[in-house]
Amino acid sequence: MENFVIEGGHELFGEVNISGAKNAAVAIIPAAILANDIVRIENIPKISDVSFIIKILDYMGAAVKLISTDTIEVDSRNIQNKKIYHDLTSHFRASYYLIGALLGRFKNAAVALPGGCDFGVRPIDLHIKGFEMLGADVNVESAMVFANAEKLVGTSIYMDNVSVGATINIMLAAVLARGLTVIENAAKEPHIVDVANFLNSMGADVRGAGTDVIKIRGVEKLHGCTYSIIPDQIEAGTYMLAAAACGGDVLIKNVIPKHLESITAKLIEAGAEIIEYDDAVRVTRFKQLNKCNVKTMPHPGFPTDMQPQMAVLLSVASGTSLLSESVWDNRFQYVSQLTRMGANISVDGKLAVIEGVNELCGVKVKATDLRAGAALIIAGLIARGETIVEGVQFIDRGYEDVVEKFSKLGADIKRVEINDANAIADAG
Ligand code: EPZ
Repeated sequence: MENFVIEGGHELFGEVNISGAKNAAVAIIPAAILANDIVRIENIPKISDVSFIIKILDYMGAAVKLISTDTIEVDSRNIQNKKIYHDLTSHFRASYYLIGALLGRFKNAAVALPGGCDFGVRPIDLHIKGFEMLGADVNVESAMVFANAEKLVGTSIYMDNVSVGATINIMLAAVLARGLTVIENAAKEPHIVDVANFLNSMGADVRGAGTDVIKIRGVEKLHGCTYSIIPDQIEAGTYMLAAAACGGDVLIKNVIPKHLESITAKLIEAGAEIIEYDDAVRVTRFKQLNKCNVKTMPHPGFPTDMQPQMAVLLSVASGTSLLSESVWDNRFQYVSQLTRMGANISVDGKLAVIEGVNELCGVKVKATDLRAGAALIIAGLIARGETIVEGVQFIDRGYEDVVEKFSKLGADIKRVEINDANAIADAG
């Protein structure tokens, strides 16, 4: 077992390189099996969610070869359409993309329900609705999703809720369907566009990704390609927030500034200075942070996956800020950890009221999910004294080399192995 140990109080200076986008990679890697061919994917982040998805492809007989540190080749010419059981799907959410990809390629899929961060109810009814409208029979039995179709036929699908996962999954199932599929009220996140671009590189005909309406004209078959994944919007945003919260001057490289606009706008409101370059943003902050109100929304709104990190920044801004969550029912579980560090935050349903305090104090805290973990790292970086962050496995799901990247910016953060005896004593 491992913890992060952070000695807070250092401003951040220097440069950090952003890795490939987790939420694009975990969709693009399974999407590669739609082609009965070899697909090369570059800019793959070194994170555990990617390892989980590669493990599933290995199990199914797709040969996944590491070409360099951030490039893989997926050869799915000999893939077998096996049942994918719970032990392979339970660690992460994106295992549900295997349903769309297998349905697209084999017209048949048996995949256990996904795991992933716990934000309250996380239904997949819209994924199922989409598959059914394309002509599949879908049943959920003993926590397995069984989807089966004689043929898939394009149709018009209206999404009752804006869903990233359902939009991508329907695209995966529809690229090899007959005729035209239209997804209305589609999600518009950067990774939706990236998945569509990837599918088009394999010969698909997907148009309109990044708008509310995506049109997919089914093709006979897809072919191999080489594709490079976009930079991670949320990893970039996390380092932007960290720079603004700690103070200092940080150049965040290998980003698409357009994807960061909502985060940039809120950081400027809170008192940071931001300069945008072609593929980098520079964040400087040397004066007191101001309160500001933030509401999470689907893209291009402020991302829900930046909400916990923003709460940390606002917890030391002067004045009272309102932080409102509109995507997930229960995404304030980490607040109890921040209040143990001295933050003054009260939560009422999907609204957090944050009274800025002068400082946070280091204590032992526990990450409850991936972005909560990122927020606790930032809290540790600004706190007085030592913070110990437990739950490192959540953070490793989505942040490549997080200790190395923060250390290079001047943070005092270490990954520390703790022995079982300590862990048991702590748990007691
Ligand atoms: C994706 O989750 C991301 N995960 C999440 O990132 C992110 O928080 C979320 O999108 C919102 O941006 C991946 O891409 C792997 P949704 P997803 O379907 O696709 C409701 C992170 O930290 N809904 O867009 O599972 C749902 O309850 C993570 O990287 C339905 O009602 O989210 C929610 O209120 C965690 N029925 C809303 O839609 C459905 O069938 C948005 O969910 C599906 C979703």
